[in-house]
Amino acid sequence: MDKVIITGGKRLKGEVEISGAKNSALPIIASSILSTEECILKNVPLLKDIQTIQRLLECMGARIQRDGYTLNVNAKDLKSCEAPYELVKTMRASVLVLGPLVARFGEARVSLPGGCAIGTRPINLHIAGLQRMGAEVEIKHGYVEVRAKRLKGAKIYFDISTVTGTENLMMAAVLAEGVTVLGNAACEPEVVDLANFLIKRGARIQGAGTDTIIIEGVSKIRGDSYEVMPDRIEAGTYLVCGAITGGDVTVSRCIPSHLDAVLMKLGAAGIKTEVSSDSVRVIADNGISAVDVRTMPYPGFPTDMQAQIMALMAVSRGLSVITETVFENRYIHVPELRRMGANIKLQGNDAIVEGVKKLSGAPVMATDLRASASLVVAGLVAEGKTEIQRIYHLDRGYERLEEKLSRLGADIVRVS
Ligand code: EPZ
Repeated sequence: MDKVIITGGKRLKGEVEISGAKNSALPIIASSILSTEECILKNVPLLKDIQTIQRLLECMGARIQRDGYTLNVNAKDLKSCEAPYELVKTMRASVLVLGPLVARFGEARVSLPGGCAIGTRPINLHIAGLQRMGAEVEIKHGYVEVRAKRLKGAKIYFDISTVTGTENLMMAAVLAEGVTVLGNAACEPEVVDLANFLIKRGARIQGAGTDTIIIEGVSKIRGDSYEVMPDRIEAGTYLVCGAITGGDVTVSRCIPSHLDAVLMKLGAAGIKTEVSSDSVRVIADNGISAVDVRTMPYPGFPTDMQAQIMALMAVSRGLSVITETVFENRYIHVPELRRMGANIKLQGNDAIVEGVKKLSGAPVMATDLRASASLVVAGLVAEGKTEIQRIYHLDRGYERLEEKLSRLGADIVRVS
């Protein structure tokens, strides 16, 4: 079991290059199921979650080759339409094969994802949308079994904005008969990235990035090449690493406009940022003021940055109220941060963070991807050594983390 050991106190300086977005690459790879031609995907990050969806497609019969950051996916000879529990339980985003499988083959058998550390995370909205499109759905032995001769376009309204729900149904609608309208659709940039790739292959989609997406079904879509967009959450995480250490860090190969809500919060906390076309520089030389944060669907403050900003607020001047509105249990990092000396009280879905002068290094446990990131952020500034165990959580979403942080001057080592 790998762990990382961070010795806090180093100011981070320099430049870090952002990798391709995990949450964009996952639906884009799943969308290759919709074509019988090869898809050539560039800037695909080297992450555990990407290996998982690659294994899932290969066990269904797809042929995948990786050459550096390029992934060639050919789903022409796909045989099975089943996503087994063994794989889905390690990554709930495997549910993204559901829509494409039903669209192309008229059937799918996908294990229900089961619970997850940050919440129950049901897929009822994915299923309800497919039923609206004429699919027969049965839940049996922990699997969702879907059948449809040919999906029909339908008007679908999401009770809650759901990112993968929007992506699943957008992919299902691409090959459906007639027009599908997705109301209260997720506006995340990852949805837009997927839509851009589908449109390039011949899909007819309008409104991606807004809360109403209209898809006119076509009989087939081609394979094609595409470059995955940069990871806005990785970028935001490094900005917070620069800020908490009072450093001067430039995050390059990112899309600054994806980070507007994060940059606004950092500015309100007294942290200077300079934005160029594809990079953001953070200069934190006059301390950190406490600010309130409320997570919201895009373009609001991203829930995937909540744990990281909480670590920053833990050493700010003043009192910050952080409200998590997207997931019902996304405070697993709180007990671990408390063990490092943070002063955090939980009241419902509010976390009241009283800034302290110093955090102290401690052995801590990673529990989910972004909670682990917040422990790294805290460890960079804590006095002494912080030892983070179970860092496979980090490897799911952060490529070469210790290498990128070391190059910025952090004292971080991975120990097997
Ligand atoms: C995506 O998860 C991301 N994962 C998550 O990133 C991210 O935190 C989340 O969106 C919110 O931005 C991927 O894109 C692979 P949701 P997703 O469906 O789609 C409820 C990370 O760290 N809901 O937008 O699963 C759900 O319980 C991960 O990279 C239903 O009730 O999230 C949640 O409370 C963590 N029924 C809310 O909606 C449904 O059918 C938003 O979930 C679907 C969702």
